[in-house]
Amino acid sequence: VQDLLPIKDTTDFPMGVAIDDRETTGPASELLLRHFDQITAENHMKPEAWYDEDRSFRPHPQAVALMDYAVANDLDVYGHVLVWHSQTPDWFFQAADGTPLTTSATDQEILRERLRTHVDDVAGWLADTYGEFGAGNPVTAFDVVNEVVNDGATSDPDDGLRRSEWYRILGEDFIDLAFQYADEAFNTTHAATGADRPVKLFINDYNTEQSGKQDRYRALVERLLERGVPVDGVGHQFHVSLSMPVSALTTALDRFADLPVTQAVTELDVTIGSPETDANLVEQGYWFRDAFAMFRDHADDLFSVTVWGLTDGRSWRADSGAPLLFDDRMQAKPAYHGVVDGDLPA
Ligand code: G3I
Repeated sequence: VQDLLPIKDTTDFPMGVAIDDRETTGPASELLLRHFDQITAENHMKPEAWYDEDRSFRPHPQAVALMDYAVANDLDVYGHVLVWHSQTPDWFFQAADGTPLTTSATDQEILRERLRTHVDDVAGWLADTYGEFGAGNPVTAFDVVNEVVNDGATSDPDDGLRRSEWYRILGEDFIDLAFQYADEAFNTTHAATGADRPVKLFINDYNTEQSGKQDRYRALVERLLERGVPVDGVGHQFHVSLSMPVSALTTALDRFADLPVTQAVTELDVTIGSPETDANLVEQGYWFRDAFAMFRDHADDLFSVTVWGLTDGRSWRADSGAPLLFDDRMQAKPAYHGVVDGDLPA
């Protein structure tokens, strides 16, 4: 691993990276610990990861590995994710006989109870195993709901929300409930501090740099805040490509600046297309330089910035071209230099 200026020493906000247990040993771990001070489980704290075949709750071995690693190395953990339309067991949305839950009062109560139990079990296991939140537990934030905004405008009613199973059965209320249950589970039960909430509760979504989605996201967050829903933070995934101007990301962050929330960049990656050339790798370096200059300008409003993977080949978007800061030999790309010092070829 190269002896380079740690990224985390150049930012005023925690610098996060999404990983699984492959990054917790050997040179990958060495690279991670040099540059990052926060981790997110790329897959193993998603709803389905917490359940075995017979539907019983148990932490996934990888969730245990990542939490142990965070404790051993003094890293923060940004949790991902309590409620999602994807990677959630089908039985969440089914009655005991396997038929889909309906919108009857009885069925809605079944789903509300499942949601509450799920949130309680996750928060309870984390607190019981790793200590009180805000008092030694490495978890500092959690995505409470992920990707609940619709990709296109919806009508009847035009609430801009994704038509998921959660939505079909409970309507918009599932979002309020998820935050209320998380508020209780992550705070009242396990760390009644009375001070600042020890685990920031986030809503998270993608394409928030695009105007239509951004309008719908903003409108939803406003509604939640007006109803007193305990949303602390707005997450922007920012899965983008080089053709996306950094100014669009600036606009996205500025769009929420007047609201009483913090914000986070939760899943940053920037594809360069193919073929991979020196020229587009350098262009990517300039992109990251400009983006991080902007993030530093917004440091007061930014909870953290997370890149969605450590090395290019491990990215979910590897096929779309080298989206991260380090290559597969763990060497710093121009993107790294863009982030830390802007020292790039002309
Ligand atoms: O674990 C199995 C493995 O046993 C099997 O051999 C292999 C064969 O395909 O699949 C493995 O599971 C895959 C898993 O990643 C772990 O690698 C799943 O198929 C694959 O679907 C899953 O993809 C993840 C995706 O979420 C699922 O929706 C990506 O790694 C992960 O980067 C991605 O992350 C999401 C965020 O959670 C939310 N925002 C968008 C982001 C990108 O899609």
